[in-house]
Amino acid sequence: MSKPDRSTPPSSAGALVIGVLASGRGSNLQSIIDAIEQGKLAARIGLVLSNKKEAQALERAERHHLPTLFLDPLLYSDRSQYDAAIVEALQSHRVELVVLAGYMRLLTTVLVHPYQDRIINIHPSLLPAFPGLHAHRQALAYGAKVSGCTIHFVDEKVDHGPIIAQAAVPVLEEDDEQALSERILIEEHRLLPKVLQLYADGKLRIDGRKVRIEGETSAEDGPIRLQVNR
Ligand code: GRF
Repeated sequence: MSKPDRSTPPSSAGALVIGVLASGRGSNLQSIIDAIEQGKLAARIGLVLSNKKEAQALERAERHHLPTLFLDPLLYSDRSQYDAAIVEALQSHRVELVVLAGYMRLLTTVLVHPYQDRIINIHPSLLPAFPGLHAHRQALAYGAKVSGCTIHFVDEKVDHGPIIAQAAVPVLEEDDEQALSERILIEEHRLLPKVLQLYADGKLRIDGRKVRIEGETSAEDGPIRLQVNR
């Protein structure tokens, strides 16, 4: 007998509360902020948390008057203790959905379990190709002709959970890491707010490794699953 579907819960009363974990530049965070401010995403950001004091993501959040928190990993004895502090912060800000937007630390079960099916990651390759660090470099070194980005639910393994959406871009002969990452980043910024709106609408249904998008019956249906832009 197959296991019952795990449906992502639609948000409780009011707009979906998103917590963003980011370690660096924060351009994906910015895409979420912009979508909310432009009325394209019915959500609010309850907390932006970073493991890096100097993260540009924190500056961006402050500029938009969003709550921020720097948690210094050096103050915790291990990764589990650190993640416990993250969970406490997320819960005290009533975060319902966690978005890893360039968050450069491995997650422990202490964080993954309480937020099971409620953590989303964005990765700059077409998973399962090129997980981990330096995805663009890996794609170029492998000679891939197509790469892109993947948005997926997070489980205990790195870049592994059920895939929600992907966008593809060509890899060009003359590409270096910078050129490829810029092309992919455009797609990341398009796709992430769309996926978050689907989540906010309660339209994502996890069925084993598959994520079904309510109202979408095939890959040809829409731009969500596949975008090939040059
Ligand atoms: C993005 O390429 C994202 O896919 C990866 O890390 C990068 C973060 O960029 N996980 P930014 O900090 O959002 O600008």
